Amino acid sequence: MTDAVRDSYDARAKEYADLFLDHLDRVPADRESLGAFARLVSPGAGVVADVGCGPGNVVHHLAELGVEAIGYDVSPAMIDEARRAFPDSTFHVGDLTCLDLADSSLAGIVARYSLIHMAPTRLGDAFREWFRVLEPRAPVLVSFFASNSSANHGLPFDHAVATAHELFPETLVAEMQAVGFDSFEVSTRKPMDDERPLDHGTILARRGSP
Ligand SMILES: C[S@@+](CC[C@H](N)C(=O)[O-])C[C@H]1O[C@@H](n2cnc3c(N)ncnc32)[C@H](O)[C@@H]1O
Repeated sequence: MTDAVRDSYDARAKEYADLFLDHLDRVPADRESLGAFARLVSPGAGVVADVGCGPGNVVHHLAELGVEAIGYDVSPAMIDEARRAFPDSTFHVGDLTCLDLADSSLAGIVARYSLIHMAPTRLGDAFREWFRVLEPRAPVLVSFFASNSSANHGLPFDHAVATAHELFPETLVAEMQAVGFDSFEVSTRKPMDDERPLDHGTILARRGSP
C-alpha cells in the first residue's frame, strides 16, 4: 500500500503543494492545535519530526513557533516540493513506520493526515515506531478525517490522491494507549464549506515513560 501511496503523491506533488502550502493561513483550528503541540515540546529538547510532511508548510510553521522541526515523507516528489518552498528547513524521504532515527531521539512527532493512507490494521506499526524514536514524555499530534462511529473506523472514502480511510478517534486512542502513549486530548471539528464533508479529528498525547 505504501508504494501505491508514494506513486500517487509523486504524480500530484506539485498540484498538492499549490493547493495546500497556505493551508494554515486559512484554518485557524489547525494553527491552534500546532500551537498546543508546540507548547508541550520542552525548550531545548531537540528536534521534532513531521511525518508525512507533504509540502513542508507545517515544518516551517513549527520553526516560526520556535520549535526545531524536520520533515519526512514517503514521496520523493513531495520532498522536492518542500525543499523548494523552504530551503532553510530539513526534509528527508522516509516511511513513518520505519524512521531512520535512533531510539528516544525525537522531542515530538506531528502526523497530519498521513495515517489515513495506511492500512487501518497496520496503524499499530506506526505507533510502535513512534514510541521507539520519541523521548519519554515527548508529545504527539495526530490529525485525520474522523468517523463518528467505531463501525466506520477504517472505512475508505473518496480521496483525490490515494486510498484513504476515516478513523474513529477512540479506536486510535486505544491503539496508542496499548503501545504506551497517555495524556490524551481529543477534539473534532466540523468541515468548513470548502472541505470534504467529514469531521476533522485531532489527538494530542504524550509518550509514556519506559
Ligand atoms: C494528505 S497528505 C498531508 C500532507 C501534510 N501533512 C498536510 O497536512 O498537508 C498525506 C501525506 O502523507 C504522506 N504519506 C503517506 N503515507 C506515508 C508513510 N507511510 N510514510 C511517510 N509519509 C507518508 C504522503 O506522501 C503525503 O505527502
